[in-house]
Amino acid sequence: MSTLIVNGVERELEVPPDVPLLWVLREELGLTGTKFGCGKSLCGSCTVHVNGQSRRSCVTPLSVVEGKEVTTIEGIIEADGTPHLIQQIWIEENVAQCGYCQSGQIMSALGLIIQRKGLVSATDIDAVMSANLCRCGTYPRIRRAIERTAEVMAKDWEGSDEP
Ligand code: FES
Ligand code: FES
Repeated sequence: MSTLIVNGVERELEVPPDVPLLWVLREELGLTGTKFGCGKSLCGSCTVHVNGQSRRSCVTPLSVVEGKEVTTIEGIIEADGTPHLIQQIWIEENVAQCGYCQSGQIMSALGLIIQRKGLVSATDIDAVMSANLCRCGTYPRIRRAIERTAEVMAKDWEGSDEP
């Protein structure tokens, strides 16, 4: 039996510990927003957050996330159904084309923005996002959406008392 917290809900699973998290999310929990691309940590389409950090779920065995908090693209939506700021800006910028890579792009981008508290440089974006592939070539729009989201979130952090 494995226990993990997925999108704020504790889940107990009778799944072998070596099964990749991506399979658990999609097949056991029905969270199909996280996509299978390469299965080898090469494309980023399976990116989720584990304890707040971006992680490739296709190469993360269930045993590694035992007792941890996993957030998927479904989990960043506000409780009242409002899309997360990054999703709103993604829509405004018309980032997606076929859409297949986009949940991974958003989770990687959000992980970066959170890690840097919004103070994201062009070099940061290059370093982190170059590992997320998009066959439709939406890279310029992804970059614009990240920059816009980071700017707004940085202002929010500036005004908060959080350390
Ligand atoms: S499916 Fe995980 S990195 Fe490609
Ligand atoms: S939008 Fe089609 S692969 Fe990225």
